[in-house]
Amino acid sequence: MPEMVTEATPEAVERAAALLRGGGVVAFPTETVYGLGADALNAVAVARVFEIKGRPTFDPLIVHVVDEAMLARVASRVSERARRAMERFWPGPLTLILPKGDAVPELVTAGLPTVAVRMPAHPVARDLIARAATPLAAPSANPFGYVSPTRAEHVEQTLAQRVDCILDAGPSSHGLESTIVVLDPHPTVLRYGALPVEELEAEFGPFARDLFEGPTPLSPGRLPRHYSPRTPLRVIEPRLVPPGARAASAALCFTQPDGSAVEGYACVRVLSESGDLREAAARLFETLHELDALELTRIDAQPVPDRDLGRAILDRLRRASAR
Ligand code: TXA
Ligand code: MG
Repeated sequence: MPEMVTEATPEAVERAAALLRGGGVVAFPTETVYGLGADALNAVAVARVFEIKGRPTFDPLIVHVVDEAMLARVASRVSERARRAMERFWPGPLTLILPKGDAVPELVTAGLPTVAVRMPAHPVARDLIARAATPLAAPSANPFGYVSPTRAEHVEQTLAQRVDCILDAGPSSHGLESTIVVLDPHPTVLRYGALPVEELEAEFGPFARDLFEGPTPLSPGRLPRHYSPRTPLRVIEPRLVPPGARAASAALCFTQPDGSAVEGYACVRVLSESGDLREAAARLFETLHELDALELTRIDAQPVPDRDLGRAILDRLRRASAR
C-alpha cells in the first residue's frame, strides 16, 4: 500500500499522472491552494471529484492546462482580450471564463456553455498535467464549504481516505484561490483572488463586479457561505469586543495589535505583523485551519484594508462568517 501523502518527486508525479490517466483522483499543489484533480475529459473521473468533495453538481469546476494545445481542447474560442490576458498573466493565479469546447463533459461546467480555464505556475502542477497529458478539472481540495487547503496536511486531515494520492510540495505561495474573470463582452470579476483586480484594470480598464451577493450568480459556486471553519467566525475589530466577551474566543488580527486591544482572548493570531497583504493572504487559510483545531467558541476576525489582495481576504472572511 503506497503512502497516501507523497513528496512530489518526479517519480511520484509520474505515478500520480498514471493514476490520473486511469481515471483516478489526485490532490496536488498549486501556487494558489491545493487542488483535487481528475482528467477533465473523463466524466466518470470528474464525478468522483464531486463525490469526494461532497460538492453539488450545479457548481462547475476549473480546468487546468499547461499549453496551447490543451487550451484548444477545452475552449472553442479565445478572444483577442483573452489572448492578451493569457500573455500577460499566465501561467499564474488568473482563471478565464471562455466558450466551452465540445470535448469537455457537461458535468465539468454544470451545463454552462462556458468553461473556466487556468494555467497554473506551480512546477509540480505543470509537471503533473503535462505527464498526465490531459487537462485536469480541479476544485480546491477541501470538503465542500470548508476552509481551502494550503498544505498537503490540510488535505490529509479531511480527505485522505478518499483520494488516490496526495502530492506534497510544501505550502502554497499565494494561499488564496485564483481570481476569476469574464472578459467579453464586458470585463467582469466573478471572484476576487490571488491576482489583484488592480493589476487587471491597469491592463483592461475598469472591471464590473458580479461577486454573487445576489440570488442569480453567474458563477454558481460562489455561495454566500463558503470557506467556513466549524468554529463560528465573525468579521469585527477585536478591540471593539467587550473584554467580558473574549473568553474561549480567538482574535484573528491583520497586523500586530496593542496588547490591551486583545487582552482576554484565549488565542491571538496575527496574519502579518507589518501589515503586508501578500503575507496575510498566504497565511489566512493556514491560520483558520489552526484555529479551527483549537475548538474555541468563536473567531473574531479583524477586517483588512479593502484594496489589492485585501479584497480577496475580506471576501473569504465574509463568506466564512455567513451562517
Ligand atoms: O486557485 C484556484 O482557482 C483553485 C486551484 C486548485 O486552481 N481552484 C479553485 O476551484 O478554487 P473551486 O472549485 O474551489 O472554485 C471554482 C470556482 C467556483 O466558484 C465555480 O462556480 C467557478 O469557479 N466556475 C467554474 N466554472 C465556471 C463557469 N463556467 N462560469 C462561471 N464560474 C465558474
Ligand atoms: Mg473552493
